Amino acid sequence: MSRNKNNQAIWNKRINKNSSILFQEIGSSIDVDKRLFKEDILGSIAHVKMLSKQKIISSKIRNNIIKGLKKIEKEILNKKFIFNKKHEDIHMNIEKRLFKIIGNDAGFIHTGRSRNDQVITDFKLWIKSSTQKLDRKLIRLIKTILKIANNNIQTIMPGFTHLKNAQPVSLAHYLLAYLEMFQRDKKRLLNNLENLNENPLGVAALSGTSFNIDRFFTTKKLGFKKPTNNSIDTVADRDFVLDFLYSISVCSLHISRIAEELIIWNSDGFNLIKLSDKVVTGSSIMPQKKNPDPLEYLRGKAGGTFGNLFSMLTILKGLPLSYFKDLQDDKEIVFRSFDTLNNSISILNEVLNNFKPNKLKMIKLANKGFVTATDLADYLVKYHGKTFRDAYQKTAMIVNYAEKNNIKLNELSLKELQKIEPCLKTNVLNIFDLKNSVNSKKSFGGTSFNNIKKMILKYKKIYK
Ligand code: ARG
Repeated sequence: MSRNKNNQAIWNKRINKNSSILFQEIGSSIDVDKRLFKEDILGSIAHVKMLSKQKIISSKIRNNIIKGLKKIEKEILNKKFIFNKKHEDIHMNIEKRLFKIIGNDAGFIHTGRSRNDQVITDFKLWIKSSTQKLDRKLIRLIKTILKIANNNIQTIMPGFTHLKNAQPVSLAHYLLAYLEMFQRDKKRLLNNLENLNENPLGVAALSGTSFNIDRFFTTKKLGFKKPTNNSIDTVADRDFVLDFLYSISVCSLHISRIAEELIIWNSDGFNLIKLSDKVVTGSSIMPQKKNPDPLEYLRGKAGGTFGNLFSMLTILKGLPLSYFKDLQDDKEIVFRSFDTLNNSISILNEVLNNFKPNKLKMIKLANKGFVTATDLADYLVKYHGKTFRDAYQKTAMIVNYAEKNNIKLNELSLKELQKIEPCLKTNVLNIFDLKNSVNSKKSFGGTSFNNIKKMILKYKKIYK
């Protein structure tokens, strides 16, 4: 075993020139992967416990290594640890420091493993706990949406298709649509854990190891479900990274959509909501301005997360098996995506807690665009035995009439209506009432007040 003088690379016996400074700069990933220190120490402790159980190292050496690793963890937590670019990454930085603290016993730590399996073990553990963090954040966001929805069951607004008024809906129902998306995001993230839950530790460089290791032991210690099956696949596999990046992308896509929605609603043209001063910014020249910058930030940041997913796909697409330095970039990409989404969920939560619906404006806008036309067509089918297509034609004629005379459907007199469709009776006038329209959509998943109440109740039970 080579002696590890602290300023020398582990491989100094084989490679006798120092790396060029330029390569040290670009080849080192310590600035990025130091975020894995906890997982790295956890993985190493499990590894040496296994080595000693298997009698590959003595319990004295095991205890020495564990003591050293715990000291290193404390040093890092207390910001006393000096990370050195020369030692490339978190794994070598910790190993180097271990030599300094416990001496040559440190040389046993890497028995039966490689950085190739070490790094994926760390990374999987990190993604697992980061998934839980995102999950908790999403729960908070979902609770906020539930609270606002609960306060706005009777708040009526136009639902849009093509951004043209389509049919009236409840604001609660609109917001619950986003709740469904975030609920799916949660599930998508958690579903990934199933595939990710296989322990890479012990596949070593790519072919396994001749040491009599017990991968089931480290699997249990590290909270994985089972050891991975194939050593070559294990080292080369970054599917779990792609899954995480994709799930993050979809969630940021949803955030971007609601951000865009709120930007439109907040625009002077729509004026459907008011953002509190906490979540707007001013203009350097136009004193009157209050701009929805945080929402624009969210919309913009989604682009970055898609880019990260694409970067990773591209890095992988041409790689034969198994490990290549190309893979080192996975951490930077994932950390960036995670940080972006983590911030974005908080920001969206903050914005949602800081806006008020302009209820009057919402109902006023819902009154435009003949949004109850479908209700009239449905009424003709239900009460006057027409086919839906005939009813559609008649309703279109009534809409044309109203448009020509510049009046709303609910301003038409029974007489005017009967001129186009003689069978109509007084009760047709109720059809044009927006509340009645919203409340009539009782089909499962529709916008009726009762449906919404039930849905809110159901979710409140889940998200207590
Ligand atoms: N820092 C490296 C990475 O993240 C660890 C694996 C190094 N393995 C190697 N064969 N150079 O990719």
